[in-house]
Amino acid sequence: AGDLGPVPDGTNFTAVAPNTDDAVTVPEGYENDVVIRWGDPVLPDAPAFDIGNQTATAQEKQFGFNNDFAGLLPVDGRPDTYLLVVNHEYTTEPFMFADYDPDDPTEEQVRIGIAGHGLSVVQVKGEPGTGRLTPEFGEYNRRITGTTELLLTGPAAGSDLLKTTADPTGTRVAGTFNNCAGGLTPWGTVLSGEENFDQYFANAESVTDPVVAERLARYGLEGADTERKWERFDNRFDIAAEPNEVNRFGWIVEIDPWDPNSVPVKHTALGRFKHEAATVHITGDGTVVSYSGDDERFDYMYKFVSSRKMQPGNSRAAMRHNMTLLDAGTLYVAKLSGDHPDEIDGSGRLPEAGEFRGSGEWIPLLRANEDGSAESLVDGMSAEEVAVFTRLAGDRVGATKMDRPEDFEPNPVTGKVYVALTNNTKRGVDGAAPADEANPRENNKNGQVLEIDDDHAGTSFTWTLLLVCGDPNEADTYFGGFDKSQVSPISCPDNLAFDSYGNLWISTDGNALGSNDGLFSVVLDGPRRGETKQFLTVPIGAETCGPIVQDGRVVVCVQHPGETDDASWASPASHWPDGGDSQPRPAVVAAWKSDGGRIGV
Ligand code: FEO
Ligand code: CA
Ligand code: CA
Ligand code: CA
Repeated sequence: AGDLGPVPDGTNFTAVAPNTDDAVTVPEGYENDVVIRWGDPVLPDAPAFDIGNQTATAQEKQFGFNNDFAGLLPVDGRPDTYLLVVNHEYTTEPFMFADYDPDDPTEEQVRIGIAGHGLSVVQVKGEPGTGRLTPEFGEYNRRITGTTELLLTGPAAGSDLLKTTADPTGTRVAGTFNNCAGGLTPWGTVLSGEENFDQYFANAESVTDPVVAERLARYGLEGADTERKWERFDNRFDIAAEPNEVNRFGWIVEIDPWDPNSVPVKHTALGRFKHEAATVHITGDGTVVSYSGDDERFDYMYKFVSSRKMQPGNSRAAMRHNMTLLDAGTLYVAKLSGDHPDEIDGSGRLPEAGEFRGSGEWIPLLRANEDGSAESLVDGMSAEEVAVFTRLAGDRVGATKMDRPEDFEPNPVTGKVYVALTNNTKRGVDGAAPADEANPRENNKNGQVLEIDDDHAGTSFTWTLLLVCGDPNEADTYFGGFDKSQVSPISCPDNLAFDSYGNLWISTDGNALGSNDGLFSVVLDGPRRGETKQFLTVPIGAETCGPIVQDGRVVVCVQHPGETDDASWASPASHWPDGGDSQPRPAVVAAWKSDGGRIGV
């Protein structure tokens, strides 16, 4: 960022007003266009998308459903050319098929659903003077789906807890599911979080062993049928038939996008939970630190400090080494203390503005050694158990129950770390954990953003709340001390990104203020700290994900457009992006300044 000159006072665009339009809206002087949408070809032999005649074979070569994370990796030697890497978090079959019967899905529909998950790698080419991106058939283009082979590495790999009939080694998994957010590593790979994997596994209620039942329950696994009913066609999704298959999901996945034949890895040293994402910071002495939130009400924030150092360069040997960085090191969970605990009285009363702060410690849970052995640092649990049932380890050491930790991301300019705590409508309700200083509201509908000054490789940190989100006219909101009459309302922060000046950009999921979700900029430093402005809104029913803020373009994923409670195939709530009477399709969007100038400043 050295050639950009001094950090500006803040962002400089006219905020988009909250709205409920069925459109992507950007500020005056900006424009936007779709980059790629569900069903578009990724591989050269993909058939044209035909929404009435889909097949699993076609979907395996086409862009998947419900795009969430997006990353852009520059391709060496090809100006303004990138690999666009996108997660396909989940499928919503009633919005994918005209003839879908939720009680009786066809096998082909199930196979299409499995193929619509995973990730896509697509080469995209920029256009001079704009931020537009056009997909190309490059040699790196790839689909990873729910049947692609992945390798388990780290302390739980090969454990009895991970062995199945199809894989007696406990190291080879078919597919990755519910890949929510992610991060790009400094060594050129992509990290992706397997989040709500519980929804794919049926018949948890058949389990009678109380220890196993407790483990399943702690991960939200309950009941008989799943909503998608994949278990009818593949018994690995049936816990009664294959009790360990579920333990092979809920990991951080690492993908080398520069080799389309590479086997993606699930790193068990980073623990198993509903990983929103993983994001890496490298300290001055080269220590590699990865942060990850567990997106569930009252769940925890984690970090992993590697004992290995990154090898520079992009040789295959360096890549092979660097893809083991997250296999050896120590996994920690966060415990926070507020410095005004007596000002939270259990009814959600707020401390004075600017006093939402405190300190914290990282409690070690698991050490993965250089030689492949591992030690549990939690009484009463083995190393394998800590890796596979990490939530239970966090429970035992008294980690702090947070309001749904979504993206947990270091600012590459300042090194401070930010966590989007999206909401928690159960906080303080019906005997659940009461408000505390970092999670200061009961029945928290709008969420907050935590700023952490971390001793990255160490065990202590300090924290402050940057934003307490919601309608700025309400007394229970806080915008970093900035004048609340001058900010955009923001609700349910989910994904975080940083521009090259170190401003924070936040995309939202589930706006509880009655308008559509969107993308916001937040100034972090200087007199305008806390100034929050809406840059973009997404269509009806969509969440905004995967933001990337480059100097000349913004990229967002528009996930689940049209998925409102009362919408259906016959009565779509959105016709975005194709217009007319079309069905909505999840898509990636690029936005840019019409005069080709720098985004936001
Ligand atoms: Fe998939 Fe936590 O959002
Ligand atoms: Ca989502
Ligand atoms: Ca998310
Ligand atoms: Ca979310």
